[in-house]
Amino acid sequence: MEFDLAAYLNQPLCIGGKTIPKRLVFAPMTYLGHTAFRELLSGFGGFGLLFSEMCSAKTIPTENRHVSAFFKWRDEELPLLVCQILGSEPGRMAEAARRIEAEGFFGVDVNFGCANSIICRRSCGAAVLKAPDVAGAIVERIRKAVSVPVLVKFRTGWQDRPEAAVALARRFEEAGADAVTFHPRVAPDRRARPPRWEYIGLVKQALKIPVFGNGDVFDPDACRRMIRMTGCDGVALGRIAVARPWVFAEWTGGATPGPEIFHATAKMLLGLMARHFDERAAARRYRKFTLYFAANFSFGHTLYSRVQNAGSLAQIAAAVDAFFASPPDLAAAPNMNFFQ
Ligand SMILES: Cc1cc2nc3c(=O)[nH]c(=O)nc-3n(C[C@H](O)[C@H](O)[C@H](O)COP(=O)(O)O)c2cc1C
Repeated sequence: MEFDLAAYLNQPLCIGGKTIPKRLVFAPMTYLGHTAFRELLSGFGGFGLLFSEMCSAKTIPTENRHVSAFFKWRDEELPLLVCQILGSEPGRMAEAARRIEAEGFFGVDVNFGCANSIICRRSCGAAVLKAPDVAGAIVERIRKAVSVPVLVKFRTGWQDRPEAAVALARRFEEAGADAVTFHPRVAPDRRARPPRWEYIGLVKQALKIPVFGNGDVFDPDACRRMIRMTGCDGVALGRIAVARPWVFAEWTGGATPGPEIFHATAKMLLGLMARHFDERAAARRYRKFTLYFAANFSFGHTLYSRVQNAGSLAQIAAAVDAFFASPPDLAAAPNMNFFQ
């Protein structure tokens, strides 16, 4: 019998005593998953949780949300918004988590997945996985500091050894994590090789807490396959959600978008970004968005280069309108040249 994806994704899921309405969530995406983009996602709906961009644990305790580039949100999104933190010192991570709880976020997510060399040189992100004791201590301190759900996002580690990933996952659970998101790639592999979904199944079997699978889910069929192969409790979408912000609504059965949605969405996001950011920051982030959005089209590089060359938001708007002046051909699958 055909696996009913929408029925599966529409089931609520309990995470540390709180319930999310659906099992498809938006993965943390720096420079992409900002508050303007999340407002766009909220308009479409269909997700169970949203994650913020990664925020430095060092700065969170004193950060002013109204001027911060990353620690920024709309109050309406807080019930389903998790704030992701980055850091290496258990005490500082716990202090950041306390502020996140006080602000009213759904929960706090610990970034043990970022393999960016600048971040890893500071012993943060995936670098923490080299010291499982430190990783465990961070989760434990955060657990003791807050009563909201504590989540962990991690990858396989620095060697392609599934037993090590399972051992890390167990450690996070023992330290008090309420859920994990697992991206089964080694660091520093930046998505060059396919993720090892079978490792998600091993992590799932080893844990009692919910496991979100993540990595290279770009269409409903892949989502179905990941769930069936691994038994994961939910799926976290990254790049495809940036390219097609309506995917959550579409895959959970709440929307059947037509081709006009691409132009309308591109313009809507531009308007939201102009409201939430100053011109320079908005243009910079919109250019980054265009990299992933352009993957939808056979001639996406035309859109991409027009937007990269546009200086102001008005010029970006004109570039977007010019690209859609005649209906663009949709690519059968996202163009991976843009998706790296
Ligand atoms: C541009 C970009 C920014 C990202 N930023 C973060 C981040 O801040 N925190 C994090 O845990 N993962 C981050 N990731 C990783 C994603 O959350 C996700 O694990 C990865 O893209 C694989 O999922 P996908 O195949 O659905 O895109 C980022 C990925 C990309 C491409």
